[in-house]
Amino acid sequence: MPTRNITDPFTNDTIGRRYVDKVVLVTGAASGIGKATALRIAAEGATVWCADVNTDGVVATAAEIVGAGGTARASTLDVTDHAACAALVAEVVDAFGGLDVVCNIAGIGGSALTPDESPARFHAMFAVNAAGPFNLIQAALPHLLERQGNVLNLASTAGIIGQAYCAAYCASKHALVGLTKALAIEYGRTGVRFNAVCPGGVNTGLIGSFIPPEGASMSLVARSFLTRDMQEPESVAALVAHVASDEGYYMNGAVLAVDGGTTTG
Ligand code: NAI
Repeated sequence: MPTRNITDPFTNDTIGRRYVDKVVLVTGAASGIGKATALRIAAEGATVWCADVNTDGVVATAAEIVGAGGTARASTLDVTDHAACAALVAEVVDAFGGLDVVCNIAGIGGSALTPDESPARFHAMFAVNAAGPFNLIQAALPHLLERQGNVLNLASTAGIIGQAYCAAYCASKHALVGLTKALAIEYGRTGVRFNAVCPGGVNTGLIGSFIPPEGASMSLVARSFLTRDMQEPESVAALVAHVASDEGYYMNGAVLAVDGGTTTG
């Protein structure tokens, strides 16, 4: 895959510094898109609080940021735990005086023939992918209102279109998109923004959970893939960094695909 540097046309810097004085909470920061986002936003000057259920991974991400001269902390967090989400937000605000951005990136996936899907896994996908962001948003709202902050929900092309053998995942990501839109309207006049980024095919560990189940129709599976290659997590992090920065100030309730055209039709 080609690596594309993002260069500021005026300063020739490889990236901007849009997050100086911003405090950003990133979930799913132990790996993949969450890690790439934490690194990207920290490189742009943010104080980043990395949260993930994977303790070793999230500690490593924060250490990488600090090693590169940035400011970061790490916490073990299960986003399905409402009380733990509230406690973490309180800890962030206590440590850094406020909170500007919440990036809800933690997520789980999985494919199955629908008759074989377990109710427990269906509920787990909703708990992590939809209720998790709700838990953090509810805790963060008073602080976001104080600073005219914003929330970035990492959904998926599966939050825009249907994908065969992914009924639970699709339903949970459509729920996350619905949550984003409802809050965008409810808070539209306050200056607090809510947006969803919807990638297709990202080269991360999660993709392994989408191996088509035995008996799947490959022609139905192929409907979800237009591109030859997957994108790297940094491609998604670059879009997240733009939308959640002050440069994205007029984006609210947006559902933004970064999918090589997969959802165009
Ligand atoms: P990943 O597996 O590398 O990252 C997901 C992270 O979420 C992991 O670090 C994991 O430990 C964490 N996590 C899982 N359950 C958690 C919980 N209950 N509490 C806290 N953290 C938890 O995979 P990737 O791809 O970086 O996933 C990030 C987000 O991107 C997910 O929401 C996923 O649904 C979404 N996405 C991924 C795509 C892909 O092709 N990889 C495409 C579209 C969306």
